[in-house]
Amino acid sequence: MAVPPVLLKEDELLQDEADGSAYETARDISKYLLMHYGTVEDAFERPHHPLAPSHGYPARLSELLELVALRTGTLVRTALDAGCSVGGISHALSTWVQDVVVGIDASPRSIEIAQSLTRHGGGTFSVVQLGPFSREIQVTLPEAERRARVEFDVDDACSLAVPSRPYDAVVLSNVLDRVRDPEVCLRQFTDSTALLRRGGLLMVACPWSWYPEFSPPETWLGSSGDCVTSEQGLKNVLSGGLDLMLEKDEAGVLRQNPREYDYFEAHVTVWKKR
Ligand SMILES: C[S@@+](CC[C@H](N)C(=O)[O-])C[C@H]1O[C@@H](n2cnc3c(N)ncnc32)[C@H](O)[C@@H]1O
Repeated sequence: MAVPPVLLKEDELLQDEADGSAYETARDISKYLLMHYGTVEDAFERPHHPLAPSHGYPARLSELLELVALRTGTLVRTALDAGCSVGGISHALSTWVQDVVVGIDASPRSIEIAQSLTRHGGGTFSVVQLGPFSREIQVTLPEAERRARVEFDVDDACSLAVPSRPYDAVVLSNVLDRVRDPEVCLRQFTDSTALLRRGGLLMVACPWSWYPEFSPPETWLGSSGDCVTSEQGLKNVLSGGLDLMLEKDEAGVLRQNPREYDYFEAHVTVWKKR
C-alpha cells in the first residue's frame, strides 16, 4: 500500500458533531475502527492491560462460526454480516468463507469507511487520547490471497435486501438490541429461506443492552412479567425455524480513551436453519 488513505481525520474527531446520530459520529466510528482493526498495542498502549484478553472480538466470533461450520459440515460460500459497522467481522469471516462476504449497515458513513478501507487494503485513522490530544493508527489488511471478496452496502437489518441466492451464513453481532424491532429482524430467518438457506447458519451475538432510544421497550426480547430473560426470548423466537448448535459468552472491549473502556460480554448462539 503506497499511501494509506485517511479514513478519519484528526480534526473530525476533535470537533465531533455533538448531535450526530448514533454510530455516525467520528468518535463512534473511530472506536469501532480500533475495536475491529487495531492491535492490542493500538488499543491498550501497554502489554499487560487487564482488559487485553477481551481484545480481538471480531476474530473470535468468526472463529466460532467457522468451528460450527466445520463441526456441522456446512459449506459456507456466502455470508452476510448485518449491522457490520466498519466491517471488521466481515473481513474476519473472509479469511475462511469461500466466495463472498457482504457487510451491511444503516450508517452510510460507516459503510463508506468500510468500502474505502477494503478498496485500499487499509488506511489511517485517529483515536482520542486525553483532552485535546489524538493519536494516529495505521491499519493494513492481510493479503487478499485465499480470502473471499468483501462487499459493503447500506441496508436495514429489519428489512434486508433479498439476495439472488440465499446466504449460507448470517451474523447479527451486537445489533439486535439496536434495531427498532428485534423480532421482526429475526423473523426474516425463521419464516423464510429467502435470506438464509436450509442448513445455513445464523449467528446471534448480543449483550442484551437495551435502550428505549433504539428499540421501544415492548419490543425487547424477554419480559419481566413472565420472567423470560432475553436469552430465552431469543430462543423462543428462533427455535420455531432453527436448531441451536452452540451457546457461549464472548467478551469484547471498546476504548473510550486510554483511561476508560467499555467492556461487554455478548451472549453468542449459532443456529442451523431447518
Ligand atoms: C453496536 S454496533 C455493532 C457493530 C458490529 N456488528 C460489532 O459487533 O462490533 C451496532 C451497529 O448496528 C448498526 N445498526 C443499527 N440499526 C441498524 C439497522 N436497522 N440496520 C442495519 N444496521 C443497523 C449501527 O449503525 C451500528 O453500526
